Amino acid sequence: MRQITTVRAMQRWALEQKRAGARIGFVPTMGYLHDGHMSLVRRARKAVGRDGKVVVSIYVNPTQFAPTEDLAQYPRDLKRDKEMCAAEGVDIVFTPSDAEMYPGRAEGLFSCYVVEEGLSKLMEGASRPTHFRGVTTIVAKLFNIVLPDVSVFGAKDFQQAAIIQRMVKNLDFPVKIIVAPTVRERDGLAMSSRNKYLNPPQRAEATIVSQAIKQARELVSRKTYKAEELLKELEKLIKSKPEARLDYIEFFDPETLLPATKVGKGTHMALAVFFGKTRLIDNGLL
Ligand code: PAJ
Repeated sequence: MRQITTVRAMQRWALEQKRAGARIGFVPTMGYLHDGHMSLVRRARKAVGRDGKVVVSIYVNPTQFAPTEDLAQYPRDLKRDKEMCAAEGVDIVFTPSDAEMYPGRAEGLFSCYVVEEGLSKLMEGASRPTHFRGVTTIVAKLFNIVLPDVSVFGAKDFQQAAIIQRMVKNLDFPVKIIVAPTVRERDGLAMSSRNKYLNPPQRAEATIVSQAIKQARELVSRKTYKAEELLKELEKLIKSKPEARLDYIEFFDPETLLPATKVGKGTHMALAVFFGKTRLIDNGLL
């Protein structure tokens, strides 16, 4: 496995692979890798085959964090990340610096962004208004640098995956997007680099996030609910955990992401819950 740190070297390597006819599978991450990330790596390998190449980027992207968010505290462990990637047969880890990715940003010379103006306004975008602009910008940049044939994203960030698919479709990026299932801890908590922030009582209560989806699934298996009715039931459930503070629960159509007024089988649910300063998200099909 090779580590590449500059845009120029990464692009040159990618172009060489293309000329040699190798397919490139790409998994963008912010590092502090866990088995959810590694499942995407395995999916990328499956997509490009043994003759293909798998690239993992590890970069904590500052433009997707609001000034009040956890950019400075975001967990990092590059040594461990590299060991995990090597063990999984990754060919390249791309670990650029901020100066490589955003040259001139401090001096106001970085002024081009990719903005998705529809899906980005809902749910996560309503709570974090500048977040998706940062995500689409960095992913577009990474696609231009890594030149992947296939890129794998996690269903854990359902809205993010939908926005990237929209970007690729609308802007004609020649890349196939694969969305891979959410990997969970044994008690149902979706794996996330941010789970590290939870203290033991918060960690114990955090199972309520996936339980809320399970509960909703059970309820709608018996009858169709009005969205506000089901919301009330689930709010009660979340309130039963003293450390949990609900940010939002949304019910929506998984294709359009538009809010559903009636919730039944086939409706998708997403939620965000704070435990102290830590904000956890999850989603699932009901
Ligand atoms: P990060 O949170 O590191 O996640 C990288 C990828 O791993 C995303 O596609 C995410 O959906 C996926 N992932 C995270 N937890 C997962 C889980 N439990 N199961 C399956 N997949 C999981 O998402 C980002 O980074 C950034 O926004 C990024 C796309 C890299 C742009 O900076």
